[in-house]
Amino acid sequence: MERVTSVEEVRQTLGASRREGKTVALVPTMGALHDGHIALVRAACKRADFVVVSIFVNPTQFGPGEDFEAYPRDIPHDIELLAAEGVEVVFTPGVEAMYPAGSDTIVEPGTMAMLWEGEVRPGHFTGMLTVVAKLLNVVTPDLAFFGEKDFQQLVLVRKMVRDLDFGVQVVGVPIVRDRSGLALSSRNAYLTDVERAAAIVLSHTLDEVRRIADEGERDALTLARFMAEEIEMESLARLDHAAIVDPLTLEQLEVLDRPARAIVAARFGRARLIDNAPILPPIRGMTAPAAEEAKWSTPA
Ligand code: PAJ
Repeated sequence: MERVTSVEEVRQTLGASRREGKTVALVPTMGALHDGHIALVRAACKRADFVVVSIFVNPTQFGPGEDFEAYPRDIPHDIELLAAEGVEVVFTPGVEAMYPAGSDTIVEPGTMAMLWEGEVRPGHFTGMLTVVAKLLNVVTPDLAFFGEKDFQQLVLVRKMVRDLDFGVQVVGVPIVRDRSGLALSSRNAYLTDVERAAAIVLSHTLDEVRRIADEGERDALTLARFMAEEIEMESLARLDHAAIVDPLTLEQLEVLDRPARAIVAARFGRARLIDNAPILPPIRGMTAPAAEEAKWSTPA
């Protein structure tokens, strides 16, 4: 595995593989890698001959007062993990390599970026899409892998790729959880033991809301209210939002009349955590087969 830190080096390293007609995949990350990231890397290695993983804690997607400084960083350990997976290139640029002095052109997302995470984190998705656009332009991969864990991010990246004609296929990868159900996240490192135990309320609530939908509840606002109440019952949780949304537009649904996403966000101490799950409308009171669900969970 080769480690490179400049845009020129990435292009040089990729040149030969491209001439050989290899399929190139990009997995963008901010490092502090865990099994959620590794699931993306494995999916990429399965589908592509040449896998590039980027590690860059992108300052422009953090707001003032957010955790840019505190964000966990451990590049030596990340590199060990990636080498064991058979990744070809790890790209670890410094801030100057990605944002040379004077660089001020940005990707301005559409109105979908004002919803949910965008409402709580103004400017976050502008910074995220700008760096993702740059990484896609540097690597020009055939495939790019993103986790469903950051569902709004995945939907916005797909939209940018469509709206701005990036020639890349965006692949969504299901959420990886620990044994308790907690979605893996680099930010889980901020949780105390007690907060970690409390944070399980998010995945439990998503499990419950799926069960209630399976049993026949079609009122999406009732389902959303149920989620909010469940999370608010946990005294260590401070709820940001809980909603049932259309998986393509992220607009709140009133009636569960199509495959949807349940999304939640809450703070536990210093950690702000998000989670989500696919929700299917009840089909004559029967649970839809898992295969059908998987098909809907990652809209192409
Ligand atoms: P980061 O939080 O490091 O996540 C990198 C990728 O891993 C994202 O696509 C994210 O959705 C995915 N991921 C994280 N936890 C996951 C889990 N438990 N299961 C499945 N996938 C998971 O997201 C970012 O970095 C940045 O915004 C980035 C896209 C790199 C742009 O800076």
